[in-house]
Amino acid sequence: MKELRIGIIGTGAISNLHVQVWQKMPGVTVVAGCDIDQAKLAAWGEKYGVRNLYTDYRQLLARDDIEAVDVCVHNNLHTPMAVAVMRAGKHCYSEKPMAGSYLDAKTLYQAAGTYGVKLAVQCSSIFNNQTRIAKRLIGAGKLGKVYHVRSVGHRRIGRPGVDFPLSTDFFSKEIGGHGPMFDIGTYHVSQMLYLLGLPKLESVYGVAHHEFYTDERLLKGKAYEVEDLAVGLARFENGLSMDMYEDWALNIDEVGTSFLAGGLGGLKLTNIDVYGGRIPNPELYKQRHPELEFFGFEDGLMVDKKINCALNESAEQLLDPNIIWFDNNQHQWAAYLRGDLTDETRINTPLICLHTMLVLDGIFLSHKLGRSVTAEEIEALSESPAVRRQVTPWGEFTYDF
Ligand SMILES: NC(=O)c1ccc[n+]([C@@H]2O[C@H](COP(=O)([O-])OP(=O)(O)OC[C@H]3O[C@@H](n4cnc5c(N)ncnc54)[C@H](O)[C@@H]3O)[C@@H](O)[C@H]2O)c1
Repeated sequence: MKELRIGIIGTGAISNLHVQVWQKMPGVTVVAGCDIDQAKLAAWGEKYGVRNLYTDYRQLLARDDIEAVDVCVHNNLHTPMAVAVMRAGKHCYSEKPMAGSYLDAKTLYQAAGTYGVKLAVQCSSIFNNQTRIAKRLIGAGKLGKVYHVRSVGHRRIGRPGVDFPLSTDFFSKEIGGHGPMFDIGTYHVSQMLYLLGLPKLESVYGVAHHEFYTDERLLKGKAYEVEDLAVGLARFENGLSMDMYEDWALNIDEVGTSFLAGGLGGLKLTNIDVYGGRIPNPELYKQRHPELEFFGFEDGLMVDKKINCALNESAEQLLDPNIIWFDNNQHQWAAYLRGDLTDETRINTPLICLHTMLVLDGIFLSHKLGRSVTAEEIEALSESPAVRRQVTPWGEFTYDF
């Protein structure tokens, strides 16, 4: 098996999950890590036995024994960093959301082609058998014409960096960019668009709110600058509609879950994976296994039934040893880099996420303009919130892309 030698840029919270998956994967070596926070980087290097540590990403990129880089910096740094990675001739795996706007996502998407390297974007909601089985049922016509879908995410209270100890960048306009609709909505909307075969967007209406009560002491002196709830309604070709709902905190216990409604049948998607799936999080995954319920007609009778995704998983694994490539983003990217998967056989996450960003950007453009916006308007008016200049203890980085 060809050895893959990778570097990780950004050794914060999510990198811990990534590095553990890499280090358990046969034939993969994490050669180097980089973070502008030297203490965090040193502790990370010590914990995972990674000895080549850099505070300047350009030094990591200058290594010719690294062929691929995992980008784990925050949202508005995805495009600047991932483009720098690809320009250096390295393959790139980048965290979600793809970027801070449709324009930045397009820049990132195009860079892979420009520099002739392989790009993937983390989207764990797609890499499990809930999505595979749903896609099979839709493809087999079990739902008939799908005419409306709903994309939902809700937490009674769970603002990252406020209600649980993650980076305060999550609620910063400059770095995080947006709240739940980009952070978690990207998983739900991407899953829907993938299931629907990337339908052509016509228009979007959206509203965002920041009203949920905040105990100022939880903000650690920072300003909370993003929404805590956003809703949207998108219209696609052939009259297909999707309503989107995403909050990080709401004074209501439950708001339902994502579903697809067709003339012959409907599918309800429960426990959609936003945690990385069965490989890095086996216990959590078992407890919150992504599941499906079918509602429709069979033999002239109306039926409501559960499709047991968890039970079907063991059979899938026995029948196809390579199913792991479709159960984990990182395993898929490694298989793609080795040539075991091709552009035709892999799940094209950059393309799915680019379509997602068009819809999500549309929600916020609509909110700003106070009216619905067409896909053409979103494409034309999308702006770049990407970080272009970053002052660090190690000097100033300017990102040119
Ligand atoms: N934390 C999670 O549970 C989680 C889950 C899924 C996805 N994500 C995504 O992962 C990304 C990172 O989130 P996180 O929670 O790990 O954030 P984090 O703030 O803990 O980690 C980001 C790290 O990047 C470093 N960094 C910033 N600029 C840098 C630069 N120029 N060079 C090198 N390092 C630099 C920061 O110092 C920080 O340590 C976000 O886009 C987030 O949406 C996070």
